[in-house]
Amino acid sequence: MRLLGIETSCDETAAAIVERDGAGHGTILSNIVRSQLEEHAPYGGVVPELAARAHVSHLDHIIARASAEAGVPLHELDGIAATAGPGLIGGVLVGLTTAKALAAALHKPLVAVNHLEGHALTARLTDGLQFPYLLLLVSGGHSQFVLVRGVGQYERWGTTIDDALGEAFDKVAKLLGLPNPGGPEVEKQALLGDAKRFRFPRPLLKEDRLDFSFSGLKTAVRLAAEEIAPLTPQDVADICASFQLAVTDIVTTRSAAALARFERELPDAAPTLVVAGGVAANQAIGGGLRQIAERAGANLVVPPIPLCTDNGAMVAWAGAERLALGETDALSISAKARWPLDSADMGRRNAA
Ligand code: KG4
Ligand code: ZN
Repeated sequence: MRLLGIETSCDETAAAIVERDGAGHGTILSNIVRSQLEEHAPYGGVVPELAARAHVSHLDHIIARASAEAGVPLHELDGIAATAGPGLIGGVLVGLTTAKALAAALHKPLVAVNHLEGHALTARLTDGLQFPYLLLLVSGGHSQFVLVRGVGQYERWGTTIDDALGEAFDKVAKLLGLPNPGGPEVEKQALLGDAKRFRFPRPLLKEDRLDFSFSGLKTAVRLAAEEIAPLTPQDVADICASFQLAVTDIVTTRSAAALARFERELPDAAPTLVVAGGVAANQAIGGGLRQIAERAGANLVVPPIPLCTDNGAMVAWAGAERLALGETDALSISAKARWPLDSADMGRRNAA
């Protein structure tokens, strides 16, 4: 089966066509992503109304390109999938409404996809992974551990109680005067700095839980920067290196604990950790995760970075996994700004 996937929940306008064969193998036939970085750059962050307007302006054209590059006319599709939440509601409405219109006009099934489910199932598209596995999702909006038992079967083991990890990178970058998005800039600066110069806190690390907290760390960074202001380029690099070391410690320690729980609770499964979200691009965190996975005898899977960040292929693939189980959605389904992955309606069957 071949599905169109539409993603408009944040600041990427994306559409892709993905094929799923009878054995469950996936192939990406096209994957078009248009980032809105330039539109939002003057404001230092994503402006929801501007994002929604940009999705309106570009989505039709991007869907046409996805169809042309895949060589699949829209009337030959087997289904239309779109992100129905969670995310910025204006953008989600643009994508979901477009998907409904296409589904109605072409008489194709509609699959309303949870954006987080798209991230959660990507490793099955890229690496043909079998269930169950542990997902670490670290992006600008989310930081969570999710046990993925099957399509629609998700258990959230931990989440952030304040900022998401990507958001913490972005806020630290902003207070140091670095451009947005801050993650890649902080990583670049960290390469030039002394990670031992500042000893930033590792919140919650001593507690026996799998949650994250990054706002205290961000405050510690701000106070340290204020204390030595005005900052030299070396100060900025040292702060970035020390911050990145602190978050790497936090993420790797938590991941080791999450893997230990996986082995305890699923003794018959091969321990597997999948990393997704934009922060998966960070080499220091990736290196730390490789070490703890090796120590735990676990398999570490990091999909290619363009598929870790927001894209249409993950939405098309999650839609294909749902459709293969006979699940579709009615055209009356609503967009949702909030939609936790482990909520009751994620396990829906034949919901239409
Ligand atoms: O998954 P994503 O593209 O968008 C969503 O948030 O859904 O993630 C973007 C986030 C931003 O906060 C960005 O600063 C962060 O991922 N990021 C990084 C790196 N590359 C992107 N954080 C740390 N190191 C990086 N190399
Ligand atoms: Zn995302």
